[in-house]
This record gives sequence, C-alpha cells and structure tokens, in this order.
Amino acid sequence: MLEFLSWLEGSALAGFLRGLGIWTYGLLNLGHILGIASLFGAVLLLDLRLIGSWSSIPATQLIRPCVPVAAAGFLLAALSGLMMVTFNASEYHGNPFFYLKFPLIVAGLINVAVIQRLTAWRRAAQGQPLVSADRRVLAVFGAVSLLLWTGVIACGRMIGYW
Ligand code: HEM
Repeated sequence: MLEFLSWLEGSALAGFLRGLGIWTYGLLNLGHILGIASLFGAVLLLDLRLIGSWSSIPATQLIRPCVPVAAAGFLLAALSGLMMVTFNASEYHGNPFFYLKFPLIVAGLINVAVIQRLTAWRRAAQGQPLVSADRRVLAVFGAVSLLLWTGVIACGRMIGYW
C-alpha cells in the first residue's frame, strides 16, 4: 500500500495539481465539503423517509430529487477526494480512518445498488402502494445507509486527527 501511495504522491497528476498554486488544496477541500453536503443532505432526507418519517409525503416525491442530488454529490466528493489524496498520499499510510473510509464507501455504494433492485424500491419510486413487508425492508436499507454514510463522514473527519 505504501508503494501505491508513494507512487500516487509522485504522479503526474500530483505534480500538475501542486503546480496550480497554493489555493489548489483549499479549493479541492471546498469541493469535497460541497459534495459531502449534497450527498449527505439528500441521503439524510431520503433515508429518514424510508425509515418512516413524514409518511404523509409519498416516497416517490423525495426519491425523484434526492437520488440525482446524492449521485452528483458523491461524484464531486470522490473526484475532489482523489485529487486531495495525491497531495500527501504517503502520510495516510497506517492511518486506520483512511483505510476504514474506503470499505465503508464501497459498502454504501453496494447498499445503493441492492436497494434499487428491490421490488419494494421500484414500487416506492413509481408511487405504487406499499405492503408492510415493503416498508420494513426499505426501513432496514435506509437505516443501514445512514449508518454507513455517517461512518464515512466520521472517518473522513478523523483522518486528520490521527
Ligand atoms: C473516493 C472517494 C474519496 C476520497 C479519495 C476521499 C479523500 C479524502 C481526503 C484525502 C481527505 C483529507 C483528509 C485529511 O488529510 O485530513 C478527506 C476528508 C474528508 N472526507 Fe473524503 N474522500 C472521499 C469521499 C468522501 C465521501 C463520499 C465522504 C462523505 C460522505 C467524505 C467525507 C470526508 C470528510 C467529512 C472529510 C473531512 C473534511 C474536512 O474536515 O475538511 N469523503 N477525504
């Protein structure tokens, strides 16, 4: 892993980004925060709805705006995050929060991929009536999603304190 991180730190991308000037890292960090805010803001609303909050609002009305906002936020966070890593990549070697953050991101993405294949999700997204088993399964996936993305944020924030 150290070899990979050292390679990343010495890569052409890292050199290019460092050469852009002293504001580059700060601006990338700003992009990271905006991506996280969009991702987690959308995920929080949607997951709380799946868990059972605001049951008078049809789930489809939250799914329609929240899914694309979360996807765009994730993309921004991932792109800015990857560029941020190149600045001090080798310093992250041995940091448990750095190593835990990525499996949690993968688990969060798997949770998204699985939930979108569920009949219960399809019914909710199309505004069809849900049976109680649908509501239960969506609540479980919503709760798991909230835990995973909260874990990603906690690890991201803790990286710098290790
Ligand atoms: C491929 C994806 C990602 C990469 C490579 C990445 C990488 C990074 C890096 C290098 C830092 C700076 C750590 C430091 O030196 O202190 C960071 C900070 C952070 N990341 Fe990510 N990240 C990614 C995705 C995400 C996602 C999806 C979230 C949230 C859902 C997230 C949440 C955070 C948080 C909260 C911080 C602390 C920001 C701050 O306090 O300024 N990251 N990330």
